Formats: sequence, structure tokens, C-alpha cells
Amino acid sequence: MSKRFLNVLLVGLLILVLAVVVTGCGQSSGEKEVKDSGSKKEAQGPTKENPMVLKFSHVNTADHPKGVAAQRFADLVYERTDGRVKIEVYPSSQLYDDLHAVEALQAGNIHFIAPFSGKLTGYAPSFQLLQFPFLFPTPEDFYRFSDGELGQRLLGNLEKIGLKGLAYWDNGFMHLLNSKRPIRTVEDFKGLKFRIPGGKITEAQYKFFGASAITLPFSEVYAALQQGTVDGLENSLTNIETMKFYEVTKYLTLSNHSYLGYIVITNADWWEGLPDDIRQIMSDTLKEVSQWQREKASKSDQTSLEKLKQTDLEIIELTSDELDKMREAVLPLYQEFEDVVGKDLLQDTIEMTQK
Ligand code: LMR
Repeated sequence: MSKRFLNVLLVGLLILVLAVVVTGCGQSSGEKEVKDSGSKKEAQGPTKENPMVLKFSHVNTADHPKGVAAQRFADLVYERTDGRVKIEVYPSSQLYDDLHAVEALQAGNIHFIAPFSGKLTGYAPSFQLLQFPFLFPTPEDFYRFSDGELGQRLLGNLEKIGLKGLAYWDNGFMHLLNSKRPIRTVEDFKGLKFRIPGGKITEAQYKFFGASAITLPFSEVYAALQQGTVDGLENSLTNIETMKFYEVTKYLTLSNHSYLGYIVITNADWWEGLPDDIRQIMSDTLKEVSQWQREKASKSDQTSLEKLKQTDLEIIELTSDELDKMREAVLPLYQEFEDVVGKDLLQDTIEMTQK
């Protein structure tokens, strides 16, 4: 091997080693750069340019007191986070009907729902508490429950199923609507088939009345009434009006027999994992919006009754004697279901309403 050839070989090797070193260094600094910008972004959280997009799904119309409150919550959160959090509100079961919304929330596909408490009874049976007939004599009794320790105690039961109850929303008392006959007495229920939102207590209530009950999603009620699959249902005045149930029924009995309270719920793990400032803004905003929602619901209850009086519905007001008889008929339910909701919770709630 000539000396010249050896020199050329050595220079070549040197260039190769240098190239490997330079490329290697370049690669590792490049990777570091990517990681750095990733962690910086995480630390920064969402921005106006790259917002956190969340979904609020519900079954009511957009102009319902639940619908307008969900939208107000979304608007205020957007404003107060300077556009970093964008909540999209999906009304009228557009995204999920009430039978699938809880699973979707548990799976993290949506971030907020606000179902009637009766929709939760398959997951957390204690929520049947709010379905005991004639438990809350006035809306104020329900407010004292939901604003106090008892309301918090009930919300705590959602933790076992990975959910977090954030607030109570409101929709007034349930009344009886049907297409067969005016209901004044227990005998008038005989043979009628009622659609119910769910829950064993409500099912048993209709059995005690001599009627039957089937659970259907809210979105299917109008068609079921129209086709005669069911003869009637129980619901709030606002729901009867906004869902136009008065078009496919004839008689409305103002029974005030149970309360339509909503629970605003999120996924517990997701909520705890949020940046502190965002969680705080959402929590404070929800508190404020919940007060506003209560006023809206109460006004809507009155205006809906006025509107329903203008329809072809026959509206039946019960005497206190008739109401007492209905109450007596379902009294055995209290003992039958006390273990399902928890004896203490039920007793404490009854005592609270009597104070
Ligand atoms: C129902 O009857 O299903 C209602 O509770 C729905 C609702 O959320 O108002």
C-alpha cells in the first residue's frame, strides 16, 4: 500500500467520523427542540388560537331554561378564559339521547350533561330520591335541598361511577298529561299506559295508581303519544309546552306530584385534570349561571301555563282533598324504596321539608 493511498484513506475516515458526530449532535438537539416546545405548550395550556373545545349535550330545546343556561355557561366561559375554552352546546338530543349520554360522558366523548335526576337511577339508584311522589311540597323546599348539605350528599354518590355532580338546575313540578280522560282520582288512572323518564319508584307509582309505565327517551315521547303507544306522561309545564306535547294529548292535571330537578354532571377524572385556573373559572361561572337558570325556569313555568291555557288542552286543577287521596295512595312507596335511596338520606330530606 503506497503512503499516498494511506493518507487518502485516513483523510476519508476522518471526514466520515466528523460527519457522524455532526449529524448525531444535530439529531439530538433537534429532538430536544421538539420535546421542549411540546412541554412548553402543555405548560401554557390552551390558547385563543388553539382552544380547548368541549361538548355540552342535552335533550331539551335550545330556548328551554336548560338550553339557554347551557349556552350562557358556554358564552361566559369563553369570555372569561379569553377564548381559551370553547364549549359547544348540542340541544334536542342531537348528539346523544338521554339513554346514552351518561356512557358518553364516562367515555370522555362529551364533557357536560344536565339530565333529569331520574335518568341517573340506573347508574346511581340513590338519585331516585327526587322521584318520591309529593316529597317536596314547594319549589323552595327543593331549593333548600339542592343548596344545602343534603344536595351535596346526594351528588357525592356520583363519584362511585366516575362522575362529578357540579350543580342542580331546575324545571318545576311534574304534572299529568294524557289523551284518554281527565284525571282527578286514583280510579281515573285505571288501565292507562304512561311514559316515564326511568326509575323504579316512578314505575311503582303508576302501578299503585292502577296504571302501567314504560321508559322511553325524551326524544321519542311525541311520536309515542301520536301513535298511541302510550296514553300519557308526567312532565313539567315548560317541557309540555316546548316539546308541543299538548298537540297530541287532551287532558292536563296540575298535580305537582314530583320535582323535575336537573344535575349538571362532568367526568370526574377529566375535571380534576384540568388546569386549575380553567377549572376555577368554570366552577364559579356554573354557580352564577345556576342561580340565573333557577329564575328562568320559574318564569318559564308560569308563562308555559299561560300558553297551555290558550291551547285545546283541558286543564284540571285538583282540590286539596283530591290531592290528599292521591298522596295517600302512593305513601307505601316510601317504605318500599327507603333502602334503595338510603334511609338516612330519605328521612333527613323529609325532616328538612317539614321545618
Ligand atoms: C324527561 O321527561 O325525559 C325530561 O326529564 C327531560 C328533560 O331533561 O327535561
